[in-house]
Amino acid sequence: MNLLKDLGIEKPLILAPMAGGPSTPQLVAAASNAGILGSLGCAYETPEHIHETIRKTKELTTKPFAVNLFAPQADPILSQSQIEAATTALALYRKELELTSTPSLKPPFSYDFEKQFEVVLKAAPAGFSFTFGLISKEHINACKSQRILTMGTATTLEEALLLEDLGVDAIVAQGVEAGGHRGLFSTETPDPLIGMLELAKSIVKNTKIPVIAAGGIMNGQDMRAALATGAQVAQMGTAFLLCDEAGTSAPYRQALTNSPSDATKLTRAFSGRIARGIENRFMREMENKKESILPFPAQNNFTRDIRNKSAQMGKSDFLSLWAGSNFSRIRKMPAKELIEVLWQEYLSN
Ligand SMILES: Cc1cc2nc3c(=O)[nH]c(=O)nc-3n(C[C@H](O)[C@H](O)[C@H](O)COP(=O)(O)O)c2cc1C
Repeated sequence: MNLLKDLGIEKPLILAPMAGGPSTPQLVAAASNAGILGSLGCAYETPEHIHETIRKTKELTTKPFAVNLFAPQADPILSQSQIEAATTALALYRKELELTSTPSLKPPFSYDFEKQFEVVLKAAPAGFSFTFGLISKEHINACKSQRILTMGTATTLEEALLLEDLGVDAIVAQGVEAGGHRGLFSTETPDPLIGMLELAKSIVKNTKIPVIAAGGIMNGQDMRAALATGAQVAQMGTAFLLCDEAGTSAPYRQALTNSPSDATKLTRAFSGRIARGIENRFMREMENKKESILPFPAQNNFTRDIRNKSAQMGKSDFLSLWAGSNFSRIRKMPAKELIEVLWQEYLSN
């Protein structure tokens, strides 16, 4: 299977889905218009909002793009002592940020996947990608009947084999260098922390479907190395965070520009799931309060007011500053220009 041909894109590159603000319709459309596959990260959006986001994107491009959601997650059952520990751990931050109320910890903690998926299915984008595990065979078949190409995320070969068995069209091999959440299927088992090159190579070798390499790819040379594994396409997220069209907030942009090159760490502090971001005060201090971190997605809901207020105040101390381990090679330019530069670098190697 030839992913480029099946997706209808010119260059072997995908703009990674980046939920929570960065992947705006403007960024996704600019990427798709420049000949790569833009991806909308819609996991944190209501079905109505997803409908609107896709409509706006279609207004800006007639080229193929993808939509990304989180695989359905069971809501954790929280004990009273977990709730108390989490409330106490975050109380001092709420006080500092002058937040007068504490968010409710009543489920549901995320939007109904079925309703989100229904909107995607109806809109029939060129691609549908997902992370955090498996969806059902019915979901895959529904995509096939709408000619939507499906892409599941794997952080290990075992996860990739489960995705192949499910019947996805392609596998995103997400290395440990990647910015944002790790796509691990289980939050219970230890993270084997496999690097992108090693993971992509082993998935290419042991599966029969196309592989998309993701994690730490920042320039044309990196793209070349990623594709040398046998992956058909490279996927880049962090590299696009300073693009003019990205929805990256001002304090987040400052952190990406000014932090030391080794500043990223893995943390569960913001959402309860492991994710890579630039270390800030919240991440550092929560390291000593790990037992007060709620399971995903409860922690994500419980820290939302803190993150939002931090952004409003222009402070990066309490923001999730998702970034890949190679973020310091980030460049600030419009997406179209960045894709042109990447392509020239890729060809000139
Ligand atoms: C800000 C940000 C948000 C992300 N959100 C999502 C998401 O919603 N869904 C998803 O599958 N991956 C998400 N990712 C992970 C990317 O799909 C991809 O694996 C990662 O960006 C690749 O590594 P890089 O950032 O070093 O390029 C996100 C990454 C970043 C940086």
